[in-house]
Amino acid sequence: MEPPHESAAGGRKRRRRGGDRNRWKPSSSSQQEPPPAAAPAPLSSPPAKRRRKDGTGQAAAAPKRGNTSSLLEKMRARLSGGHFRMLNEKLYTCSGQDAFDYFKNDPTLFDVYHTGYREQMSHWPEQPVNVIINWLKRHNASWTVADFGCGNAAVAKNVENKVFSIDLVSDDPSVIACDMAHTPLESSSVDVAIFCLSLMGTNYPNYLEEANRVLNPSGWLVIAEVRSRLDPNNGGADPEKFSKAIIQLGFSLVSKDEKNKMFILFYFKKKCLTMPLQEKSKVAKSIDWPQLKPCLYKRR
Ligand SMILES: C[S@@+](CC[C@H](N)C(=O)[O-])C[C@H]1O[C@@H](n2cnc3c(N)ncnc32)[C@H](O)[C@@H]1O
Repeated sequence: MEPPHESAAGGRKRRRRGGDRNRWKPSSSSQQEPPPAAAPAPLSSPPAKRRRKDGTGQAAAAPKRGNTSSLLEKMRARLSGGHFRMLNEKLYTCSGQDAFDYFKNDPTLFDVYHTGYREQMSHWPEQPVNVIINWLKRHNASWTVADFGCGNAAVAKNVENKVFSIDLVSDDPSVIACDMAHTPLESSSVDVAIFCLSLMGTNYPNYLEEANRVLNPSGWLVIAEVRSRLDPNNGGADPEKFSKAIIQLGFSLVSKDEKNKMFILFYFKKKCLTMPLQEKSKVAKSIDWPQLKPCLYKRR
């Protein structure tokens, strides 16, 4: 049971039926992210068991069968919304290996997560993955791309480039199922590594180290992350510290796109360092990575 909301004056505010309580908001952000459609729409009529009294004090008639089935649909949507939030929290609060084992145990959970995720994203004014797809289309179609945490593999489906799509679960033969801290890709084999809202695990630096391994010298590292995770005024990481850590790993920051309301985009390029492997791993171990705040969603 959720606690009741307090009004600005400190008094108890009565909830409107099906109103705010059905909205979702990210707890890691002061920004209001729009609610997913998976969350039930406000109820237009009261549930059957709460019969209203009419003027004569008699219970009102039970709802028709159609109303019952739409109520069931709403309840189902609410349950799957709750399930999505639970899985989302899991992904942000465990290591990549734990997430891989978890979804391997029950791959159907991946669909539950992605149904909720799609609903959530459908309310964003701009999809970061589309910005990245358009960026790729403006560049070289002969570049080989690795899409780390590809989701429904939108990048591979929308560009001419050869794309290695990587995620925890694969229901498509073109998607490599693995923990992206350890991919089967060869060293120095790709020109672009993409992380579109996928730096979720607590060991996210390992994903970037893996991208560094598989990228060619001068290869691109493109990262889109939820703005609130990189908002120090709101408990998020300092974006400068985040960039600095990646620069120490062996990249230079080419540009940063902050014009989107919900996400920030970073475009890094791998430096051509001729450091011995041993020296490289010593440097990597000394990097002070900021903790990225999980982007959790809760019902109001
Ligand atoms: C928020 S979704 C974004 C999906 C896609 N990049 C997009 O923009 O539509 C993040 C994806 O990263 C995947 N992911 C998270 N941690 C991972 C890991 N350790 N290894 C592989 N994939 C991972 C999740 O399974 C999920 O599909």
